[in-house]
Amino acid sequence: TSKPFALAAALSALALVLAGCGPAADTAGEERGGTLRLALNQSEDHPSYVALENFSDRVRERTQGRWNIDVYPNENLGNQQESLQLTSDGSVDLAIVSGTQLENLNRDFVVFNLPHVFESIEHQMRVITDPSIVGDLYSSLEDRNLTVLGGFTQGARNIYSSRGPVTSPADLAGQKIRVQESKVHADMLDSMGGAATPMAYGEVYTALQSGVLEGAENNEVSYETQKHYEVAPHFSRTEHLIGLDYLVANTDRLDRLPPTDRAVFDEEWAATMREFTDLWTTATDEAISELRSQGVQFHPVDDAAFREALAPLTEQALRTAGPTARTVYEKTRAEAP
Ligand code: GCU
Repeated sequence: TSKPFALAAALSALALVLAGCGPAADTAGEERGGTLRLALNQSEDHPSYVALENFSDRVRERTQGRWNIDVYPNENLGNQQESLQLTSDGSVDLAIVSGTQLENLNRDFVVFNLPHVFESIEHQMRVITDPSIVGDLYSSLEDRNLTVLGGFTQGARNIYSSRGPVTSPADLAGQKIRVQESKVHADMLDSMGGAATPMAYGEVYTALQSGVLEGAENNEVSYETQKHYEVAPHFSRTEHLIGLDYLVANTDRLDRLPPTDRAVFDEEWAATMREFTDLWTTATDEAISELRSQGVQFHPVDDAAFREALAPLTEQALRTAGPTARTVYEKTRAEAP
């Protein structure tokens, strides 16, 4: 999709959303049912969409059809930065956004966007669902009317390029590599030897195709579902970080759920996080075999060279954040296997 088209699509979807019946709360301020709009930037063949549709089905069933979660994929409610703003405003109720977006609202979120902070997906999921570690962080955006509810792994992220294998930092010299809109990720990519170029997810394919970018960094599933492999066929296993997507909700809307419905929502969301983790492993394996059959080459890298280049980043980033970030960092590392 071209940009103006995507924008027009986002606006018309938004008009539909706004025209829909608004939440009607009873005298206790509770809503007995309604539709929750959820913004997602992935396509329908991404495991997030699959898991969220299952979440929606289970919540609908368990509330006898009173609550509906409508998932809008493909940035139809805007890119992540836009959909996060809409969620804060209350015109969208729920959004899946990358940790990089939350770093821009509260610098403490930088802690989970750092290279090598998580040793494995299992370590990551254990940490991000432990209220004694993440409680303060997750409630820190409530003054913006945003509640963080946990999330989905993005798996390990790797560099891919149209130019060729990237086996050491020197190979990235002069290459413009897309990063998410985050200061720490821009610094990360620059430290890895390339020229960081922040950009929204939905714009990356065209930018790779037109040569505005030489490469990007992501997991195998996004690389495949966004078709980036068609225009950047060399995938180098840098595994520089395990990314994280959060589910964020509009706090006011969430607080209007009657307690029994809220309990259903929370239970099914917890089940969705577990289901997603299983789906993720399968989706990654499937993406890899599909990519191989499309002729993609997976290159090993000089892991020690990249680790050395990235080592100073953690301390630099934690210094720019508040004390919460350091506490969370220490607790996270203490949980490492
Ligand atoms: C992954 C992640 C998305 C993120 C994207 C990106 O696909 O799941 O939330 O937007 O990477 O690189 O922008």
